[in-house]
Order: sequence, then C-alpha cells, then structure tokens
Amino acid sequence: MAATTGDSNKLQVLVPGDIGFIGSHCIIELINAGYEPIVVDNLSNFSIVCLQRVEQIVGCRIINYKIDCLDLEGLRDIFKKHSTYAIMNFAAWKSVDESVEKPVLYYKNNVGYLLNLLTVLFVFFFKPINHDFLTIVYGSPKYLSFDEKHPYIGDSITNPYGKSKYICEHILKDTTIAYPN
Ligand SMILES: NC(=O)c1ccc[n+]([C@@H]2O[C@H](COP(=O)([O-])OP(=O)(O)OC[C@H]3O[C@@H](n4cnc5c(N)ncnc54)[C@H](O)[C@@H]3O)[C@@H](O)[C@H]2O)c1
Repeated sequence: MAATTGDSNKLQVLVPGDIGFIGSHCIIELINAGYEPIVVDNLSNFSIVCLQRVEQIVGCRIINYKIDCLDLEGLRDIFKKHSTYAIMNFAAWKSVDESVEKPVLYYKNNVGYLLNLLTVLFVFFFKPINHDFLTIVYGSPKYLSFDEKHPYIGDSITNPYGKSKYICEHILKDTTIAYPN
C-alpha cells in the first residue's frame, strides 16, 4: 500500500484501524468535516479493497500506511512525517470467541498496540490525550444506561477481548493522570 501525497493545509488526523467497520465510516466523516485522515492499518481484518471503496465514495486518494501498530519504529516514522493534530484509534481485534481461543494473541495485539501508541505520543512527541470509554469494560451493569461514573467490575468480564479492553482503560486512565491536558 503506497502512501499518497496529502493536502498540507488540512489538519491531519491519524486513524489506526481505519480500514475497519467503524474506522472506514470515520474517514468519510473526517473528510466531510475538512480534516485529512492518515490511515494506518495492518490489514489483519480487512482488505485494501475496503479503502479503495471509501476512496470512491469520497472521490479522492487517502494517505495510507500498511503498518502494524505493534511496530514501534513504523509508528514513530509516521509521526515524524506528519504533524498529527489528533488520533482517533480503532485498531484492535474484536471477536469474543476468537479471543477465548487465542488469549495471548489478543492481549498482545489489543494491549501491545496501545502501549506503542502511547510510547510514541509521550516519549517522542509529548501530546496530551482524552479518551472515550468502551461499555464492555464495565462488566455486568449496576444500572443503565452506562455513563463514565459507572464503576468498573473487571471480574465480571467473561472473555479476553473484554479484559484486554479493561486493561487498556486502566492504562489510558493512568496516562491521563500522569500527563494532564
Ligand atoms: N463494531 C462494534 O460493534 C464495536 C462496538 C464497541 C467498540 N468497538 C471497538 O471499536 C474498535 C473498532 O471496531 P471495528 O468494529 O471497526 O473493528 P474492525 O475489525 O472492523 O476494524 C479494526 C481494524 O483494525 C485493524 N487492526 C487490528 N489490529 C491492528 C494492529 N495491531 N495494527 C494495525 N491495524 C490493526 C484491522 O485490520 C481492522 O481494519 C475496536 O477497538 C472495537 O473493540 C467496536
């Protein structure tokens, strides 16, 4: 997957996992809102054809890199190349059944990529973060609908996919405290 030249006047938003289900919708919305998405995906769950379809919808080429977020140097190179305004992250594996069969791979991918992303952000470029929560990390609900005040009930999460996200929430929470806006 070759990178294309972007429009340097637009704010660039790095979007790991952008060829996936949610990310591909996000690219379209970003372009419609006047931003320039920088796609980073290892194509582990989708083919490049999905990005080509999005390009047909928006009518322009999209800057993209076939990079695994577990590749720290690869991520660092992208940050060096682009003055990233923000990151919207969607890179993860999400199959509950597969996570039960392959827990180590799920923890490695879903927690490992986040540690790499945060390493690049804070160690090399120092940028503040905000993050949104994922409902699965709250376990069995004490009340509905969820809000961010709901306590985490980690032990009631039944599968490695959810637990990997639970670990990520703690990493993000601790990082937000250590590096406030
Ligand atoms: N789809 C849902 O209903 C839903 C609901 C709540 C939360 N989420 C979360 O939203 C995020 C995106 O979900 P989705 O449904 O779009 O998933 P998806 O599988 O459609 O897309 C994820 C993308 O990430 C890529 N990817 C995975 N690991 C990567 C890595 N190490 N490096 C680079 N790219 C990698 C995959 O190739 C894929 O294109 C996930 O974190 C998921 O847990 C999804």
